[in-house]
Amino acid sequence: MNTTNSTNSKITEAADFLRERIKKEPLIGMITGTGLGSLTEKMDVDLRLPYKEIPNFPISTIEGHKGTLVSGTLANKSVIAMEGRFHIYEGYSPKDITFPIRVMSKIGINYLFISSATGGLNQQFEPDDLMIVTDHINLTGNNPLLGPNLDQFGPRFPDMSEVYDQDLVTLAREKALETGISLRQGVYAGLLGPSLETPAETRFLRMIGADAVGMSTVSEVIVGVHCGLKIMVIVAITNVHRPEATEKISIEEVIASAEKAGPKLALLWEKIISTLP
Ligand code: HPA
Repeated sequence: MNTTNSTNSKITEAADFLRERIKKEPLIGMITGTGLGSLTEKMDVDLRLPYKEIPNFPISTIEGHKGTLVSGTLANKSVIAMEGRFHIYEGYSPKDITFPIRVMSKIGINYLFISSATGGLNQQFEPDDLMIVTDHINLTGNNPLLGPNLDQFGPRFPDMSEVYDQDLVTLAREKALETGISLRQGVYAGLLGPSLETPAETRFLRMIGADAVGMSTVSEVIVGVHCGLKIMVIVAITNVHRPEATEKISIEEVIASAEKAGPKLALLWEKIISTLP
């Protein structure tokens, strides 16, 4: 079997496995990031599966990530959510980490909602802020679409001129105002990690127009675009880089800040989802 056939059959196998177990075709696929597990707490869950029980799924290895797939409803919409994601720095390829998105697309999602913990670069930002992503810069030096194109999902050269759905950005801003949640907006720079940014890198990222920096999300978003999904990304700003007054970043503080942002983000997502057609 060639690689394309083998990738397609792995996706189909995982999708068939899930379809047999899920009550209703999901409308929305969600990915919750580091410390943001509370995003699934509001769901009416009808199935919770450890990744290791799903055929061909990678397995999450890091602190703050659960590694379960949850299916159910949120605000009366059918949802499938990944509690915990995969990162390239764990040793996975960009293709591996985006495998679950292909599977969720295959079982019918139209929307992909992503959250993650990020470092703030915009000097107006404060830790615990939320930011809706309006554009990104892929600095991973990699791309999940390398290799033979999976024609059943999308084109060889997907257009990236409007990756983040404008209507969802508008809706998120409306719901944030309504609920009194402060919502920043800006450009996300996706790096490989796992080392954090040096002060010179931080200055460089600001210069090229990034407002926040993280080690996930861009590969997932690129595959989401390839699958034709409507994408919304809201990130928690867990720390802010001040290149002129550098401070050490601790992963404990990052997780604690994401956990603080989690309930705000969960409320916002719920309000947004309740308004979807
Ligand atoms: N840099 C990269 N990724 C991150 C950061 C950061 O400062 N904070 C949380 N995730």
